[in-house]
Formats: sequence, structure tokens, C-alpha cells
Amino acid sequence: MSDADGRPRIGPRAHITGWGAYAPPGVLTNADIEHLVDTSDEWIVSRTGIRERRVAGPHETTASMGAIAGRRAIAVAGLDPDEIDVILLATLTPDYWMPSTAALVKEAIGNTRAAAMDVAAACSGFVFAYSTAQAYIAAGMAKHVLVIGSEALTRFLDYTDRSTCILFGDGAGAVVLSASEAPGGTMATELTTEPAGAYMIWIPAGGAKAPPSPGTIARHEHFLRMEGKETYRFATKTMATTALASIERAGLRPEDVDLFIPHQANIRIIEAVAKGLGLPMERMFVNLDRYGNTSAASVPIALAEAVDSGRVKISDRVVMVAFGAGFTSGAVTVEWTADPANGRRAADAQPRDIHIRQPLDWNSVDPIQPALAAVLAAPGPISVPLDDVVSGEPEHADRNGAGAPVAPLAGRGDA
Ligand SMILES: CC(C)(COP(=O)(O)OP(=O)(O)OC[C@H]1O[C@@H](n2cnc3c(N)ncnc32)[C@H](O)[C@@H]1OP(=O)(O)O)[C@@H](O)C(=O)NCCC(=O)NCCS
Repeated sequence: MSDADGRPRIGPRAHITGWGAYAPPGVLTNADIEHLVDTSDEWIVSRTGIRERRVAGPHETTASMGAIAGRRAIAVAGLDPDEIDVILLATLTPDYWMPSTAALVKEAIGNTRAAAMDVAAACSGFVFAYSTAQAYIAAGMAKHVLVIGSEALTRFLDYTDRSTCILFGDGAGAVVLSASEAPGGTMATELTTEPAGAYMIWIPAGGAKAPPSPGTIARHEHFLRMEGKETYRFATKTMATTALASIERAGLRPEDVDLFIPHQANIRIIEAVAKGLGLPMERMFVNLDRYGNTSAASVPIALAEAVDSGRVKISDRVVMVAFGAGFTSGAVTVEWTADPANGRRAADAQPRDIHIRQPLDWNSVDPIQPALAAVLAAPGPISVPLDDVVSGEPEHADRNGAGAPVAPLAGRGDA
């Protein structure tokens, strides 16, 4: 066995057999953010392409959203949850420092056998976790691996900082990778880490260097901070080179790739990637206008939407590429082998029994920041187009999703 570039290939290949996503029902529009900081819809759209983002409800967490996306991916793969051998959950917003969020997800999805752990590589986390899963499969250590990206970023944003709070949102996406000797599947991966950018996107306090204290809270040091320009420069340079390295390792050229699933941070960054690879924007899947940057969840949410909306066919070459804090960057090139209709067929298998076990004798605070909660609670109907998930008629919902039918994929209001 050898890869297209002639290198010996070890073990079976990892094929994507299941996919799924979950977007929480709360919607925060650019107009809403105008009530929080000095900004405008026009500025946000022209500089980023983002129009709205989702906000996890008070009862929702990274674990609960990740569990729903994970169960959907397992249903699409046609597996029983207990057939999953390893659960890898990429996040920068875990429910707790410990236990791992993956451990909570394992219990919630009804799996009794898997090893479960979190992966920390910020917005590149899903691609890093995917690559880890692929290595487990190639080494013969696992047959089915559940890879989840899940984020509750709105819990860690400073809604007095207009340079960051406009960018990010909440959600989860997942894939099941399964071992197979069949042709296709994962062809090549590329991962990079550039620690010179370590403090370009970071959360200063809460860790061992700066444990929580009244001072760290007063200085807003538990919230995400970012040097936007430096990050932008890194992203535009690195996304294209990382994608290209993975494509070439797979023995392909950029023009051989049918669809790119880029990290959904900024439309201008995605345009720069297309330009860097010499490709038209039609090859780039974009949904950041509706979700903003959901960090580790961004690529798997976009992948699930792309497949369920008919953008991916069997034998298509698909490249997922991400960048993030660290600075990290990762890309994976796959030849698609699963029937895309499986996602739509499994849409009826909505998991409604997801339950994250709560700690004993401990009453948590309301996790939603008061300023954000006030904006979300303000009356006024807003439009939530359901074709953000699969093509279909636009529907209307109130701002927290009440009254909206459950979308096959995003599952508004069903957590
Ligand atoms: C954040 C980002 C959109 C800012 O866009 P930009 O064109 O670089 O804007 P600048 O930072 O140069 O700011 C330009 C001006 O807009 C202002 N500004 C910043 N945020 C603003 C907002 N939300 N609304 C209105 N004005 C804003 C700045 O204060 C600055 O004003 P000044 O010229 O008076 O100082 C852009 O840098 C970016 O996308 N960076 C990458 C971020 C990213 O992808 N992070 C995630 C990594 S996974």
C-alpha cells in the first residue's frame, strides 16, 4: 500500500462515514451588537462578511452541543454509539478544566467503551483532532472514531471589546471516521504550529500562569483577546500554504480539488486563500455570514452543511483547512466515499434524549453575560433562514428560535 506520492501507507485508511452539526437557537445579529458596542452592520459585513452568529442558551454547554452533533454523526454512519472506540473533542471552551468535555459527551451519547479526550489547538482543533483520529485508525488502534468540534465562545467574549465580540459564535459539528481498506478516504494531512504567534489570540487568565482572582476578573482577563491585524496576516499567508502542502502530499494539484471547507473566520481571508491557490471562490464553501467564527466547530459545521446541501458527491476531492491561536494551522485532503444522502436520511433521527450529567451539590451561575442576555431578550421578530442548513423555504422564528420548525441539521430548539 502506498499513498499517491509513493510513500508507504500504514494500515487502513480513515473514511468519513458520518457527519452532523448543531447550531443553538439563539441568534445575535449585527444589529443586536450595535446595542452592545460602537459598531455597525455595514462595518462588520464589509470587514468580515459576518451577519449573525448563534448563542448557546443557558441550559446549553460545549458538551451538550457536541453530544448532539456527535449523535447525529453516529446516526448518519449507521452505527450504535457503543461502536465508537475513541472520542476526540476539539474545543477552546471546555465545560470545565477537568473532567474533559469529551468524557461528558461519552456518557451523554450512551457510549460505554470509548477512550475520550479533548484536543486543544484552538480554531485548528478539529483538523488536529481529525489527524489524530486518522493516526489511531492507520495504526489499527481504532475502527470508528468520533471527532467533534464544539464551542461556547460567547461565554468567553468581552462584550465591551468591539474588535473581538463581533467575530465569534457558538455551535458544534462532528464526523465519524471509520477504518476501511477501500480506496479513497483520508489522503493526506498537514499540521503546523508557529509559537511566535502565541499571544496574538489568547485568554490571559484562568490558567496556571494567572489563576482567577478579583483582579483578573476586573481587568477582563478571562476573555478572549486578539491582535486582529497580525492574525489576519498569518491566516492569509498560512491557510493557502498549509492547504497546498496537504494537497501535494495527496498527489494532487489545487485545481483537482472539488470543494474547500475553510475555517470560517473572515470572508476576506477565504478570498485570499482562493487567490493564493489560483482558484475561484465557487470552490470555497462559505457559511460564516450565518454563524461567524465558531472556532473548532467551524470546519465540521461547514462540512455537514456542504454535504447535506448537495455540494459534495462521491469521489469528490475535499480539502478542510483551518488556522487558529498558537498559531496553529492544519489541512486534510479527502476523497469522499460516503453516500451524501445518508445525512438527509438520518435527519429524522433527531437526538432528543441528550443529557449531560450535572455535578452534585453545586449550583452554577447563569452562564450568559447580563449585557448579552438583555440584547437577546429584547423583543422583535427576526428572520432565521432555514436554508442555512439545507436548501428549503426561508422560515421565520422569534429571536430565540421559538416557533421555528426543527431544521434537519441545525436542530433549533431541540436541545
Ligand atoms: C478583526 C478584523 C476584522 C479587523 O479588521 P481591520 O480591517 O484589520 O480593522 P483594524 O483593526 O485595522 O481597525 C480599523 C479601525 O476600525 C476600528 N474597529 C475595530 N473593530 C471595529 C468594529 N467592530 N466596528 C467598528 N470599528 C471597528 C478600529 O478601532 C480602527 O479604528 P482606528 O482606525 O480609528 O484606530 C481583522 O483584522 C481580522 O479579521 N483579523 C483576523 C481575525 C481572526 O480571524 N481571528 C480568528 C482567528 S481563528
